[in-house]
Amino acid sequence: MHTTFWSAEQARTGIQEAAAALAAGGVVAFPTETVYGLGGDARSTEAVKRIFEAKGRPSDNPLIVHLADEAEVFELAERVNDVEKALMAAFWPGPLTLVLPVKAGAVSSLVTAGLDTVAVRVPAHELARELIGRSGCPLAAPSANRSGRPSPTRASHVLEDLDGRIDGILDGGETGVGLESTVVRVLDGIVHILRPGGVTKEQLQEAVGATADIVSPENDAKVTTSSSEPDSDSEQAPRSPGTKYAHYAPRGEMIVFSGPQEMLVEAIQAKTDETAKLGRRIAVLCCSEHAGLYREAEAVFDCGERGNPEQAARALYARLRECDERGLDFILAEGYPEEGIGAALMNRLRKAAGGREIVVR
Ligand code: TXA
Ligand code: MG
Repeated sequence: MHTTFWSAEQARTGIQEAAAALAAGGVVAFPTETVYGLGGDARSTEAVKRIFEAKGRPSDNPLIVHLADEAEVFELAERVNDVEKALMAAFWPGPLTLVLPVKAGAVSSLVTAGLDTVAVRVPAHELARELIGRSGCPLAAPSANRSGRPSPTRASHVLEDLDGRIDGILDGGETGVGLESTVVRVLDGIVHILRPGGVTKEQLQEAVGATADIVSPENDAKVTTSSSEPDSDSEQAPRSPGTKYAHYAPRGEMIVFSGPQEMLVEAIQAKTDETAKLGRRIAVLCCSEHAGLYREAEAVFDCGERGNPEQAARALYARLRECDERGLDFILAEGYPEEGIGAALMNRLRKAAGGREIVVR
């Protein structure tokens, strides 16, 4: 299949042609403020099937539906409660996904993987909203990577993974947040964070105030293990089917180091010294303050100032892809405090590392 690439300079014609392709049942990658998505008409089983095929995505992992306008949510959702309305008002357009009871027949059952809920968001990226609006379709859109690869934050990443497998790619430059949206489900007045992301727990708390409790995923280690059986005590809690898959993985082996930042450099250096002897090609992902301190690693990636985890979030997936390209097969990453966007960043670092974490104390 030929994949049309619309460069940023061709954005005007690109949007029109891409919207026409989507309206005709095609699948097109487009930028959002989080990562690039691979869109298709959520009402068309044929289009949605093509999304799953292009990505190599397991069919039991449902997709997020993207809307141009928040009023359209009522066409997809059976009910929207007051807490959900408050969240929509506070964060849409933006990187928050709400899991809502689905209206029967509103989207293809492949989108929801047969669940009785549908995940919905209104992205804050201008190109995305214009594309959705012009296509006239609610767009089912997972991240535009091959399943298991880091999510794409540049159009070139999409090309790497999906060239020849999709109808087109709309280049909108580098995405802003760099990590995916926060996925929440509101149940009995409690906001459950199913996947931490671009909207932080602190922001959610501020928006809902005393009207709702916020519950985060209890324990990352639990959700990242490859065990296929859910823990018996978590069966009642709402879950995001996607969290059971090992996502975002680079090809190399990766370890996250967490603990007091003064101690991270020493621990990572010790691991580097030990491993360099074995001929492994080592990459260190660290903050700017530490970038000059590491010895023996083949690559030291400066991921931005320690006090600014937003920078690390924006850069993470591109760095992981670069490790793959350069054949760096042992990746040691500094952890971040789990506050603000740091919570989502640590969640993705742990996933990329397949749960391998060294807690330094
Ligand atoms: O930022 C984002 O959310 C990006 C951009 C493109 O919008 N999209 C994205 O989609 O990350 P994807 O498919 O890679 O991740 C969707 C997540 C998965 O963890 C999936 O299991 C969860 O949302 N999800 C979708 N529908 C759900 C539902 N009905 N109930 C619970 N979780 C759901
Ligand atoms: Mg994804």
